[in-house]
Amino acid sequence: VTLTVSKTGGNASSPLLYGVMFEDINNSGDGGIHGQVLKNNGFQGDNPGLTAYAAVGNVTLSQDTSNPLSSAITSSLKVSVPSGATGFMGFANTGYNGVPVLKATYANYFWMKGTYSGVITVRLVGSESDIVYASQNITVNSNSSAFSYYETSFSSAESPDGNNEWQLLFDAAEVAGSSLNFGLVQLFPPTYNDRYNGLRDDVASFMADIQPSFLRFPGGNNLLSSREGASTSNRWKWNETIGPVVDRPGREGDWGYPNTDALGLDEYLYWCEDMGLTPILAVWDGHSFGEIVSGSDLDPYVDDILDELEYVLGDVSTPYGALRAKNGRTDPWPVKYIEVGNEDNLSEGCDTYASRFTQIYDAIHAQYPNLTLIASTTDSSCLPSTLPPGVWTDIHYYETPDEFVSLFNEWDNWSRDRPIFVGEYASTTGNDGSTTYWSNMQGSCSEAVYMIGLERNSDIVKAASFAPVLEHFDLAEWSPDLYGLDSSPGSLTGSTSYYVQKMFSTNRGTAILPVTSDTGFGPVYWVASVAGSTYYVKLANYGSSAETVTVEIEGTSSGKLEMLSGGEFISNYPHNVSISTQTSDVSGSGSFTISLPAWAVGVLAVS
Ligand code: AHR
Repeated sequence: VTLTVSKTGGNASSPLLYGVMFEDINNSGDGGIHGQVLKNNGFQGDNPGLTAYAAVGNVTLSQDTSNPLSSAITSSLKVSVPSGATGFMGFANTGYNGVPVLKATYANYFWMKGTYSGVITVRLVGSESDIVYASQNITVNSNSSAFSYYETSFSSAESPDGNNEWQLLFDAAEVAGSSLNFGLVQLFPPTYNDRYNGLRDDVASFMADIQPSFLRFPGGNNLLSSREGASTSNRWKWNETIGPVVDRPGREGDWGYPNTDALGLDEYLYWCEDMGLTPILAVWDGHSFGEIVSGSDLDPYVDDILDELEYVLGDVSTPYGALRAKNGRTDPWPVKYIEVGNEDNLSEGCDTYASRFTQIYDAIHAQYPNLTLIASTTDSSCLPSTLPPGVWTDIHYYETPDEFVSLFNEWDNWSRDRPIFVGEYASTTGNDGSTTYWSNMQGSCSEAVYMIGLERNSDIVKAASFAPVLEHFDLAEWSPDLYGLDSSPGSLTGSTSYYVQKMFSTNRGTAILPVTSDTGFGPVYWVASVAGSTYYVKLANYGSSAETVTVEIEGTSSGKLEMLSGGEFISNYPHNVSISTQTSDVSGSGSFTISLPAWAVGVLAVS
């Protein structure tokens, strides 16, 4: 294959093209990217019980609803101590299938109630080994009339595995025959950009390495609710995810586990700010599984969207702008993109979407004419017959590799005034129909072919995001995911698709360039772009034979070649990365000959 890249012509490429879609699925939020690592700390969700708690010593634990920590956190942990008890006793929290014990400094917060003056010990301990990795004493003086708040920090050694727990111990002799109550225990390893209540630094940094441009949040289906009969009341409610965490009730999330909502609206926006991402904020539009709110019944929820936007965008003289300032953020957030719902082509959403979208669009546009609105489907049968100018439409693809390849030219002849957002995509099924649990090179290569098609059309394809982005390996309900972790140090593992995303996102031009070739597309696919004096050529070989590709770009002489390959059905597994990007230096006099292995993805960057 010989490709000759023209240095002129072509289209401007959307600067947002490659980004991240995030919702709390697979414990990607709680237990994943959010920094707090203790589970069930607020007894939230449908059936919290004593999940993740264990007694340490001869004490009895119970969930105590008669001692709520706040009107939002309606239970606390009661630790009852028998008469005559002596020694240090208390309770353990086993986190999200273990507590990550890293060589790091931890911040630790908790509330307690009950008569106790003396030492509390907080520790990180191997659950089976009893090895103590960190131990910290603090002196407290608590009483039985109200909860008092304590915080401390300590350094830890690293554990070899994730089988660890956090413990809180007190002098049982001081409490014998009585009890103490504890609430909202929180433990944070270092956070990204040192944010209070922030993201886990290691997990967020792994994402930041992709250099994504946008964050679509908070769903996905987790914006909605799948709980029968409670769909409206159990939706993601922005106003219950703001302010002090002690005032956030949490909810039973859409993916079968409680969400603490400690990762709330402001935290998402700090995430965007700290990672340099453009927020794409999805708002609830009356659509949940099994229940649709439309017509005048939707009016209060439209008002709620306007309140949310005032919270995000209003200055401090507005009631919700003032609330944002009270919560610590004076400046409005730079939100420019609002998605109306999620997948309204599905589950009874389609019939009423045109009217619901119009109702919400009209209300938002009247007050915020500069916001870009995104319809949650491209399906014209669900959309208003005429969409207002500038509206984007979102399409999602979970496909076989062959289907992704067949979608390569989907946008070539698309109307240039109808912007596209591919808000979710992933190769989830093999060509034989088998489920793909771990992304493999065939699927990742097909995603690369598809992405080349997106990039070639990135004048009109404004943004695209693989989904889901993250999983806790032990707690996943959806696969494949872009990357994952468990509780053991060093567990962060990128899938083969993670490396494709990273290669494509970190090698971006500002304009797409015309390419002439001596052959048509397939099995080799390509796209060329330029930024400043650097030329990029992205390549994918969706075929079982190696290919030789010669790339000609006049006036270039050197650069690098990134290559991802390793076998059609080879995957990366937790703790076992066999395929990652290999980078080599290249030089040539305007011509570069590349050996593209079978099922390979390559990026040439030269100047
Ligand atoms: O990415 C997983 C789910 O797939 C999303 O929540 C939903 O939008 C889609 O159906």
